[in-house]
Amino acid sequence: MALRSPGSPGPTSLGEDLALGGRITAMRLGGLALALRGDPVARLMHKPWRLDPYPTYAAIRATGGLARSRVGISAVGTHALCEQVLRDRRFGVRLADGRPPFAPADGEPSLLEPVDLSLLGLDPPDHSRLRRLAQPTFAPRRLEQYRGVAEEITAGLLDDAAARGRFDLVADLAAPLPITVIARLLGIPSVDADRFARWGRALGTSLDGVRSVAHAHELARTTAEARVLFTELVERRRADPGEDVVSQLVGALDAGQMSLDELVTLAQLLLVAGFETTTNLVGNAVRALQSTPGQWEALAADPSLAPGAVEETLRYDPPVQLTARIAHEDTELGGVEFRRNWGVLVLVAAAGRDPEAHPDPDRFDLRRVQTTPHLAFSGGAHYCLGAALARLEGEVALRMLAQRMPGLRTTGRVVGKTATILRGPRRFPVAA
Ligand code: HEM
Repeated sequence: MALRSPGSPGPTSLGEDLALGGRITAMRLGGLALALRGDPVARLMHKPWRLDPYPTYAAIRATGGLARSRVGISAVGTHALCEQVLRDRRFGVRLADGRPPFAPADGEPSLLEPVDLSLLGLDPPDHSRLRRLAQPTFAPRRLEQYRGVAEEITAGLLDDAAARGRFDLVADLAAPLPITVIARLLGIPSVDADRFARWGRALGTSLDGVRSVAHAHELARTTAEARVLFTELVERRRADPGEDVVSQLVGALDAGQMSLDELVTLAQLLLVAGFETTTNLVGNAVRALQSTPGQWEALAADPSLAPGAVEETLRYDPPVQLTARIAHEDTELGGVEFRRNWGVLVLVAAAGRDPEAHPDPDRFDLRRVQTTPHLAFSGGAHYCLGAALARLEGEVALRMLAQRMPGLRTTGRVVGKTATILRGPRRFPVAA
């Protein structure tokens, strides 16, 4: 995932914009040239290869699971290597000296990292301290209260969709469900809901890195606006606490365990991390169920299979395909050498198709019993804080869809998003 800078970049000059534009274009053209010559890591970042990355993942696994690339970053693609890198404390998300990976030498925030991603961009001790404070609010027992919320939202969305007969699975179900759940989780007042959804869509694209100068500016603008709302929200919850996550964290703020800036940034991360990821989970699940003979019919006949369909989707076609780590010292893992400050992409989607971990890995089977747990929620220190919530939402969406629309069918071409890290459908026409 794209990583964090120490603060949001301020307004930039034309010269800085031209320099950034030049850097992005050079990276893109250089990467494309390498992709054309067969460089597997470059292929993951460029069309047409990135539209279906699974053959590239297979090629990386076939050569022992490590791809060294002239792009300047390596990649690991077997289950064993991915898990080792994620769990090994000698790897972090910042440079060995604690600076963010794209930090310019003068220490100024970089437009290449316009969105501060809180926990995702922190190493110990800051990561451990903030994570300890946030973790209790995401305990599975506490999240169970959102099951009723998810069911109520899904029922309303399916009523509207059923009334129309034909609808878009993403726009009408997979996207509005998680954004409404996060808004409730954070206690966003309903008057702000539309703005909140717009920011969520815009900021979610930061996970895939900056695409252009205009994109960098849009992200910087959006994050500045969102921070104003979150700061107001903290003040409101301080005066009038509720059951939401922000109210629970205000206690840590008042006890001096975290700063206001850290709380606002963490709230923004929940919006970024919990929205498009869950949208992709529902989209990828329905796509796999509909395109694999007998699978949708099996779920329609027995909607209690929904949790299995969620787990199989997370293994077979995960919403987050990869993450990144940086070696903090010269390291050897599984016979592979990593030098200090070398970056490595951890291809969790490739790990899900590793035959050493999952027999017959290219077959989607909602009844599969995974003896090796998938890595779709990562592993080690950054293991997804929202995993229980994502599972809950995915299960509710699939179960209720199968119950209410057992004859669901795909009525046109499913158009995928073209990103490298986040994978899911953008348009998915269906009929009830
Ligand atoms: C299917 C949906 C989801 C998937 C596939 C997913 C995946 C991930 C992955 C792979 C990471 C770790 C990245 C890394 O190791 O560098 C992560 C971290 C995180 N996720 Fe999720 N996520 C999902 C849903 C959610 C939801 C619903 C929330 C909360 C509302 C959430 C909150 C977080 C947070 C806060 C982190 C940072 C944890 C840390 O750095 O310590 N995620 N997620």
